[in-house]
Amino acid sequence: MTQERIDGAPEILVVGATGTVGRHVTLQLLASGVRVRALTRHPDLARQPRYVQGDLLDPDSLEAAATGAGAAFLIWPHPTADGAAAAVSAMARHVRRMVFLSSAAVRDVPGRGPESPGRPDAAIEALIAGSGVRYTFLRPHGFTANTLRWAEEIRTDAAVRGFGGGAGLNLVDERDIAAVAVRALTEDGHEGARYVLTGPESPSQEEQVRIIGEAVGLPARWEELPRDTARLRMLTAGWPPTVVDRALDFIHARVGDPEPVTSTVEDITGRPPRSLRSWAADHAALFR
Ligand SMILES: NC(=O)c1ccc[n+]([C@@H]2O[C@H](COP(=O)([O-])OP(=O)(O)OC[C@H]3O[C@@H](n4cnc5c(N)ncnc54)[C@H](OP(=O)(O)O)[C@@H]3O)[C@@H](O)[C@H]2O)c1
Repeated sequence: MTQERIDGAPEILVVGATGTVGRHVTLQLLASGVRVRALTRHPDLARQPRYVQGDLLDPDSLEAAATGAGAAFLIWPHPTADGAAAAVSAMARHVRRMVFLSSAAVRDVPGRGPESPGRPDAAIEALIAGSGVRYTFLRPHGFTANTLRWAEEIRTDAAVRGFGGGAGLNLVDERDIAAVAVRALTEDGHEGARYVLTGPESPSQEEQVRIIGEAVGLPARWEELPRDTARLRMLTAGWPPTVVDRALDFIHARVGDPEPVTSTVEDITGRPPRSLRSWAADHAALFR
């Protein structure tokens, strides 16, 4: 990979700049001397330096935000691809390069191409690929920050209740996803790549709770729930039934067959991906 910067149009538009991954993309771009336009829907924040106001569902606002930018980091945080065609084409009229935060849920099916049942990621990838820009797709596994959903249970009774404690699930640190994004946004050589991003290991959910407990200083443990009970809890929390069943099937399948690990983070950034243990040490205060 060459270290050549994008010529002529150094500013990079970051969509999702206040989010889990985009905030690190923004910070890491700034730290490497790249000028950033951080997109937010919130007018008060947009008045701060480096921010611009815009909404993915309002193409005119995106077009204004992208005018003069050289590249864009894009997320699509909506459950369907409705509105995405207009958003992608508004941005593609201005930027030469897009890096899209897709998902490891996208599978390249021989003879059919990318598919992501129940999720819009594959549809957004197709829109970007057809837009004429140079693109890179990041397909991360679950973010390590997802474990924050356990914070309340760990804080209150040092126990996490769920289905599939033995399932080996990969977690990738959002800072490592951002580091790959920064490379793809600022270097040549990543065009057309579809990077599956993982952390260094796929600990079982039981192990994940124990690792976080050790970092926090609590003897945190996993308490297995029957599938039906876990399903009801997820439905009550507002998850659509098809998503719930797909998620529970996936977890069940990973018991005894942990998710695979890729070397992509290290290949691209030159640094091994961060472990859950190191993430938990850095975020222990959020579980106390
Ligand atoms: N969590 C996982 O394990 C995982 C794994 C793989 C892929 N992903 C993908 O990651 C994406 C989410 O990224 P994230 O977790 O970094 O985000 P996040 O923390 O959920 O934050 C959402 C971001 O999206 C922005 N946003 C929401 N609606 C918007 C709109 N209509 N127009 C413009 N901006 C909007 C918000 O900005 P403002 O509020 O400032 O406007 C905020 O910055 C999703 O597409 C998801 O599929 C997640």
